[in-house]
Amino acid sequence: MQKLAIACDHGGYELKKAIKHRFKSRVEFIDLGTNSTASVDYPEFGKAIARAIVKKNVISGIVVCGSGIGISIAANRYPEVRAANCLDVNMASLARQHNNANVLALGARLVDEATALEIVKTFLTTEYEGGRHDARVQQLSENL
Ligand code: RB5
Repeated sequence: MQKLAIACDHGGYELKKAIKHRFKSRVEFIDLGTNSTASVDYPEFGKAIARAIVKKNVISGIVVCGSGIGISIAANRYPEVRAANCLDVNMASLARQHNNANVLALGARLVDEATALEIVKTFLTTEYEGGRHDARVQQLSENL
């Protein structure tokens, strides 16, 4: 079974629940919160996913906030994280194939639930192509 960390803020809580429910038979989710629709600060949850990846507790994760923007910015502050905020299935495919994205970010207020679930499925099943993309992906983690 694939093991994934998942986290959200209040804006992403309902979609996170739907994702966990839809993929529960094939994914073991390590849920890093938040656990209700009460207002919280998204950086905490972006950092929680980054921490799980940096510590190698998981190799990939999903983050959800209202837009997918704040929580992906928070996660992407760490060189080990390649979080891609995807609005459709094509973006999710490319994020895996070309960028070897290890975190999928979703904006629950921008993407309807059915589309979000298709995006997750694509993220989970699409392989990184390697080859010509390797050097570029490596450069993403380099210091300034
Ligand atoms: C919370 O209202 C909202 O700002 C947050 O979910 C996210 O969209 C931030 O980028």
